[in-house]
Amino acid sequence: MADPPRHLLAIEGLQPPPITALLDLAESYVLLNRSGQTARDLLRGRTLINLFFEDSTRTRTSFELAGKRLGADVINMAVASSSVNKGETLLDTAATLNAMHCDLLVVRHNQSGAPNLLAQKVDAAVINAGDGTHEHPTQALLDALTIRRRTGRIAGLVVAICGDIVHSRVARSNIHLLTTLGARVRVVGPPTLIPAAIERLGVAVFHDMAEGLAGADVVMMLRLQRERMIGGLVPSAREYFRFWGLDAAKLAKAAPAAIVMHPGPMNRGIEIDSLVADDPARSVIREQVEMGVAVRMAVLDTLARARPKLRND
Ligand code: CP
Repeated sequence: MADPPRHLLAIEGLQPPPITALLDLAESYVLLNRSGQTARDLLRGRTLINLFFEDSTRTRTSFELAGKRLGADVINMAVASSSVNKGETLLDTAATLNAMHCDLLVVRHNQSGAPNLLAQKVDAAVINAGDGTHEHPTQALLDALTIRRRTGRIAGLVVAICGDIVHSRVARSNIHLLTTLGARVRVVGPPTLIPAAIERLGVAVFHDMAEGLAGADVVMMLRLQRERMIGGLVPSAREYFRFWGLDAAKLAKAAPAAIVMHPGPMNRGIEIDSLVADDPARSVIREQVEMGVAVRMAVLDTLARARPKLRND
């Protein structure tokens, strides 16, 4: 049997068995969380540090909750008031945290590859919580868990990932995971927001929403990431919504039981209409958030089991 992974840096390169094992373990944590119970013995004596160089609501909070429900000591490093502000480099920050014998380091950074770099320098298990435009592996895992629970499968589903693909680490991780598990993935958006040669990742490209959504089982909308855009890649917000925003009329092109997803945070009225986002019959956006806690518990549990306990508390 292969050794368990030491870090979770990307979905790319993972084979179906470890992905499915994480989803199966996360299922058990969904049940635990819904029962109101915790499993505080599992990570007792372990330390988890959340190191977020970019803003986050869902990911940071759910890692904190996940760690606490498993009994870890959780520290949220306030980057804005840390010595990073005095010019300390990423590697010096990592060396400092390493000297404190942290077990699990959850990192979000605006530079693609920053968590990989840290993983080479620290003893802790590093978890990528989103790096630049590269990957957001736990988001793809929670999306897959949501899809699997709603539809009963992933293989064979048609999944349309729509909008700002070029800036989206969520899209990249989802493409790797969903194609690895046998889904048929489409990317749908304006040419300016779709990376060149993305077909090499095994997806079909559509520049028309009606065509891209036709018969889709899952419609995954992405946030328009204007903070990462250089120059005018899109027309006005109003025009963007007209052509690329998901409303009831565009959703009618998808399969009758298609589910609607969004990783959050949403730009309402830009990439998605509130009537669709808040429709409990179609939208699984709140369920995605719930699955995020369970998936992060599964990831922390799996990575902690793969490391020797360094200290006895
Ligand atoms: N989906 C996601 O990563 O959300 P946050 O930026 O709030 O963590």
